[in-house]
Amino acid sequence: MLCALADRGQASPRFAVPLNCNRDQLPAGPPSSIIGAQPGPTRIEELFMRRYDLIIRGGTVATAADTFSADLAVKDGKVAALGLGLDGADREIDATGHFVLPGGIDTHAHIEQIASNGMLNADTFETATRSAAFGGTTSVICFACQHRGDSLKAVYEDYSARARRGAIIDYSFHLLLTDPTPTVLNEELPPLVAEGNASIKVFMTYDLMNIGDEALLDILLKARELGALVAVHAENNGMISWLGKRLVERGYTDAKYHAVSHPRASEPEAINRLIAFAELLDQPVIVYHVATGEGAAVIREARGRGVKVYGETCTQYLFLTAQDLDRPGGEGAKWVCSPPLRTTADQEALWQALALGDLQLVSSDHAPYTLDERGKYAHGHVPSFKRTANGMPGLETRLPMLFDAMVTRGRFGINKFVQWTATEPARIYGLGDRKGTLAIGADADIAIWDPSQRVTLTDDLVHDNTGYTPFAGRTITGWPTTVLRRGETIIADGECQAAAGSGAYLPRRGGEAATPSGRLSPEFDPERNFGAKLY
Ligand code: URP
Ligand code: ZN
Ligand code: ZN
Repeated sequence: MLCALADRGQASPRFAVPLNCNRDQLPAGPPSSIIGAQPGPTRIEELFMRRYDLIIRGGTVATAADTFSADLAVKDGKVAALGLGLDGADREIDATGHFVLPGGIDTHAHIEQIASNGMLNADTFETATRSAAFGGTTSVICFACQHRGDSLKAVYEDYSARARRGAIIDYSFHLLLTDPTPTVLNEELPPLVAEGNASIKVFMTYDLMNIGDEALLDILLKARELGALVAVHAENNGMISWLGKRLVERGYTDAKYHAVSHPRASEPEAINRLIAFAELLDQPVIVYHVATGEGAAVIREARGRGVKVYGETCTQYLFLTAQDLDRPGGEGAKWVCSPPLRTTADQEALWQALALGDLQLVSSDHAPYTLDERGKYAHGHVPSFKRTANGMPGLETRLPMLFDAMVTRGRFGINKFVQWTATEPARIYGLGDRKGTLAIGADADIAIWDPSQRVTLTDDLVHDNTGYTPFAGRTITGWPTTVLRRGETIIADGECQAAAGSGAYLPRRGGEAATPSGRLSPEFDPERNFGAKLY
């Protein structure tokens, strides 16, 4: 029996099963169990029999690279083995007919965040991360959001304490800067990045949040020094503000005019400016929530000449359009988000940009507001688009919507699904050593998907605190029925089994994606700038 187990462990070099004990350490001679008349297992056999905490048996495992039938074993919260006919676990899950996938990583979610107008978003860490878990997401990167005048350190400590109390899935923070004073940049930011928060978020729009050009350059330069990636909401604030006023003055205040008020050109203009700045300093950036084909094209062109610029889009830009804003009686407020929803042609351009690798990941930009006076209707039941809270919920529906489109309906398939929702998010944000794939030694963050479960999305079905989903009424096929976080079952049989606060903080280093390319601009290259040392 010992030999059989040991040999099985070495059956496939690709999915080799690591053994917990070395063969050389086994006692010489026959195992004692063959001497007696009623042989019971030896201690060593016992050890082999209970090598794993859990085996997920008979599923189809998929990563960004491969799809294969295998059992997956978990030990101490990590993936311990992938192989055929694994055994020796305390617990088993039968995954026959199911996909066994890495848990999703959502790298853009606003949780328990206060907007610049003072409005608190609808979710707590507990409700947001519970809804994420129901949708198959096991890690999230949210924001520690500084408002002007705030101490970044104090803000971070506050978000951190809230997350420690509430989070159900593993979490990490982007440091969101709106007021990059010398104290913030030189004293508060460096230790926070060094502690493991290696990404900085800035807005180029929103009247009370946007960073001017010079402050953006300051932040990019500091990020380069600290080895942090810079993530940017890139829209031209002046165009949006100017056109918004003109619409309102003329009485065009319904939700649908929100889309008009963000002229299409506002996105490529800001992305182009951001890239010019990033190229000047040779600092990697990621463009958040790309919504237009023109925006994606700017990124494509820059990547084509070697600039280290990454791009995300979000579920809503792939499945919704500006037409969704056109509802009577203020209902359109549910779909107000920025950048606004665009057209079906943009949807196609965004899928194409993902396929080409110009955009690398799909996040939710979960920005939840209730449908009442605390949220979307704080300024009346038919609010002016200018006074409507920006954002929509999406942590829970991101993966099921994408699974239905990509796996069930076959658009790009399951490996790209894993790549864009788990593997690339982990790689770009410095989590790739433990998250985003099912490899030996990785955290056992696993979503087991029933590819045949049909679900009609309704407002009652989702678990966040907004009370609605922007995708209500759609019937999709494929659902994550069991979800594990570090080997522990957190979702099963339609119930959340994890306690608030059981999610762990994920410290992140900058990693390869945040490392400058080394291609200095003429202005920053002492060999071409008459010897000036500008870094
Ligand atoms: O409309 C949105 N996306 N609100 C959240 C804040 C942001 O712009 O990402
Ligand atoms: Zn944004
Ligand atoms: Zn956002």
